[in-house]
Amino acid sequence: MSPVVRLAQSFDAWRAAARELIARGVPPADVTWQSQAGEGDLFSLMPDDTDANAPLLRLPRQLVELLESAACFSTPDRWAFLYQVLWRWQLGQQDVLSHADTDGARLHAMVKAVRREEHDMHAYVRFRERAETEGAPRFVAWFEPTHEVLPQVARHFARRMGSISWMIATPTATMLWDGASMHAGPALLRGAADIDDAGEALWLTYYRSIFNPARLNADLLRSHIPSRFWKNLPEGAIVPAMVSGAANGARRTGQSASVGQRSGATMIAISAERAQPARDAPKTLDQCRRCELWESATQAVPGVGPPQARIMLVGEQPGDQEDLVGLPFVGPAGALLEQAMQEAGMARDSIYLTNAVKHFKWEARGKRRLHKTPAQREILACHGWLEEEIQGVQAQVIVVLGSTALKSVLQDGSASITPRLGTPLQHDGRWVVSVYHPSYVLRAPDEASRRQAYAVIVAGLQQALRLLQVQDHSVDAGTSTTSSRLA
Ligand code: URA
Repeated sequence: MSPVVRLAQSFDAWRAAARELIARGVPPADVTWQSQAGEGDLFSLMPDDTDANAPLLRLPRQLVELLESAACFSTPDRWAFLYQVLWRWQLGQQDVLSHADTDGARLHAMVKAVRREEHDMHAYVRFRERAETEGAPRFVAWFEPTHEVLPQVARHFARRMGSISWMIATPTATMLWDGASMHAGPALLRGAADIDDAGEALWLTYYRSIFNPARLNADLLRSHIPSRFWKNLPEGAIVPAMVSGAANGARRTGQSASVGQRSGATMIAISAERAQPARDAPKTLDQCRRCELWESATQAVPGVGPPQARIMLVGEQPGDQEDLVGLPFVGPAGALLEQAMQEAGMARDSIYLTNAVKHFKWEARGKRRLHKTPAQREILACHGWLEEEIQGVQAQVIVVLGSTALKSVLQDGSASITPRLGTPLQHDGRWVVSVYHPSYVLRAPDEASRRQAYAVIVAGLQQALRLLQVQDHSVDAGTSTTSSRLA
C-alpha cells in the first residue's frame, strides 16, 4: 500500500485526520505526517481521500488532555508518535498510557516537559512598556520557548492583564492581545533588542525591591532561573553583582548586629523583618517593609501625574492589573473612573492619581487574586508615602475615592464616606471631596444603584473643579479664604 500523507498544522487538524485514518484502518506505518504542506501533498489531501462520515472515535478526557499537551512538544515526529499512541489505544492496548510502557513513558515525558515550559514562560516572560504609538500594544515581551506553548501562555496573560494590550513575540510566532481579543501571527521580531527599551528601569527596580540579601540562597536562585532564561531577563545583568554583594557581607545587614558579631556560624534562619528591629526608615517606596503587604505584591505602585497638579485623586490600593503593570487605575475601576472624569470635564493628564496603600493586598481564589480591603494598620503604615505625595504636589483639592482613602487623608480610622457625600471639608489647608470608590459602582447589585453611585462620583469630580474655580476667583479678588457655600 502506498503511504498516506497527512498534513497536521495544529492539534485539531491532527485529531480530525487521525480519526478518519483510524476509521479506515490505516496503521501508523502507512502514514507519513507533515507539519507543512509540500509539493505532492495535494493528491493525498483531496476530499475523496477523506471520509467525512467516519464514526466518532470516543476518547477519554484524560487521553485527549495528554495528547493535546504532548502535541506542543517540539519534535519532528510528534504527529506520527501521537498517532501511534492513538492506534495502540483503540486496539485495546490501554498500557500505552502507562509509565512502564515505552510509548507511555515517552508520552508522559513530553507532557511533563510541555507543562514545565508553560510554567517557565508564566514566570519568565517580561513585558516592557513601549512608547505610545497608535494601534501598537502597550506592553511587549520577547521569549524563546523550547516547545509550542505560546497559545496557552497567551490565554493565561490575557486573563491576568484584562483590557491592557500586549504582545508576546517568539522566534516563530507572535500573539497579540488588543485588550479584547487575541491575534496569532508569524514571527515579528528578531530578538529582545527589537523591543523599545522603555520599561526596563521598571523591571530593574522591581527586581531590586524583591531582592532580599538576608534570604539569599544563590544556588537556589540559580537553580530556579535556568541559565537559558537569563540572557533575556533584564535582571540577569544585575543579579551577579547583587549575589556577590550579599556574599561579601550585605547578608549581615539583614540580621541584627549582635548576630553578626557572634563567632562561628553567623547565619541564622530567621525572617528578615524580625531580624531587623532597628533598621532605618525606608528611603524609597520600593524598599518599604513597614507592613507585610510587599511580600505578596509584585511591586509598589506610586502615584502618577504632573507635579504641579491642582487636583489629586486618591484611591484605595492597586488592584490585580495595577500590581502587574506598576501604574494606578489601569484596570476596570480605572476605566470607570476615566469615563466619570470625562463626563465631569476633568482632563486625566492634569490631575495626580494615587492610592492610600501602595501594595496590592489580595487573597487567592483558585487561580485568581481577589482584592482584600487593607487593614487600618496597613493604611497607617502607608500614610507617610501618601503624605509625601500630598506635600510634593501641593494640590488644592483632594478627591478621596472611598473610605480607605478618606481614613488615610484625614488620619481618622473611623471616617466613612456616606455622611460626607456632597459636603467638601477643609483639611490641612486644602479641600477634601468625598465620593464612592469606582469599584463600588462596579459591584452595585442592579442598574439603578449603579447609575446612582456613578452619578455621585461624577458630581464629586465636578465639585472639585468648581472648588478650584472658586479658589482662583477668591485669589483674583484678593481674598485668601474660600467658602464651602460656593462649592
Ligand atoms: N482601585 C484603586 O483604588 N486603585 C487602583 O489603582 C486600582 C483600583
